[in-house]
Amino acid sequence: MTTLAQYLKDHASNPAVNDVITTITEVGKTISQLLKKGALADILGEAGNQNVQGEEQKKLDVLANDLLLEALTKNSHCAGVASEELDDATPANADGSLLVLFDPLDGSSNIDINMAVGTIFSILPYQRQGQPSKNGDFLQAGNKQLAAGYLLYGTSTMLALTVADDVVMFSLDPDSGDYILVQDKVTIDADTSEYAINSSNYRYWRAPMQQYIDELIAGEAGVRARDFNTRWVAAMVGDVHRILCRGGLFTYPFDTKYANKAGKLRLMYEANPMSLLIERAGGGATDAINRILDIEPTDIHQRIPVVLGSKNEVDYIKDLHLQHENK
Ligand code: F6P
Ligand code: MN
Repeated sequence: MTTLAQYLKDHASNPAVNDVITTITEVGKTISQLLKKGALADILGEAGNQNVQGEEQKKLDVLANDLLLEALTKNSHCAGVASEELDDATPANADGSLLVLFDPLDGSSNIDINMAVGTIFSILPYQRQGQPSKNGDFLQAGNKQLAAGYLLYGTSTMLALTVADDVVMFSLDPDSGDYILVQDKVTIDADTSEYAINSSNYRYWRAPMQQYIDELIAGEAGVRARDFNTRWVAAMVGDVHRILCRGGLFTYPFDTKYANKAGKLRLMYEANPMSLLIERAGGGATDAINRILDIEPTDIHQRIPVVLGSKNEVDYIKDLHLQHENK
């Protein structure tokens, strides 16, 4: 039996990265406990409400954010923290060598209905040690990530992690409180018949994405000549977990519904960490055409289209978009 502590000791070459991962996964245990208590912990509903004792209720995504922020800013290796929940990055210990980005509770519309949610994190090097970190320090392409992963709070709590070349999975043992290695070398098949998309946004997509989904829906009777099946968790962390477990295609594509007229998901703490996990497991991750990990960010909260999962589907979507551009 290999614990996370043992795995990190054996596989990660950077002790600072190990220490920051330990901090995040320890907070993950607390978040997991709060989710298990659910309605009993006064954590559901909108922040700003009061409970029956007249105390302020904290919505769990705010609470998760505060717990991670507090723990990480105390970690001596952490020079700064950026979160989905905070407009600006928070400087931490100027002598630290790492920057951490996180989505404290991904899929938060699932919280109040007792469905899967998760914490996504990305660890980047800090280039200006000795000086307080600023937003601009975080603007590094995903290919610079030193480690990435997520905690999925589902029927069990699982950690998917990449610190070396491989993607590995741990399960939180509720008895011992240890993360136990349950799968090493996660790999994604190149072919799949399963896809995840919120198709209610169909009218906001670009023509090649509409064509792709039309082809999947036509199934055996269409050009793909086989049937496909939809699965949609409504939490990216759940859909990505399914893909790491049994393959599939996940997309939140270019979508003019969102203010930036590009997509819903955030590059730095959603798309980048998930893309690193997916690529290292043998899958593909693009914005439909370009590799996500090579995108140079311009804003810590930048949104981009995301297409990731089984390689042959990701490549096929790219072909359809290129054909459309060359028309
Ligand atoms: O963080 C954004 C997010 O919650 C993702 O986790 C998820 O994939 C998506 O939004 C769900 O979007 P929709 O509300 O369109 O189902
Ligand atoms: Mn999210």
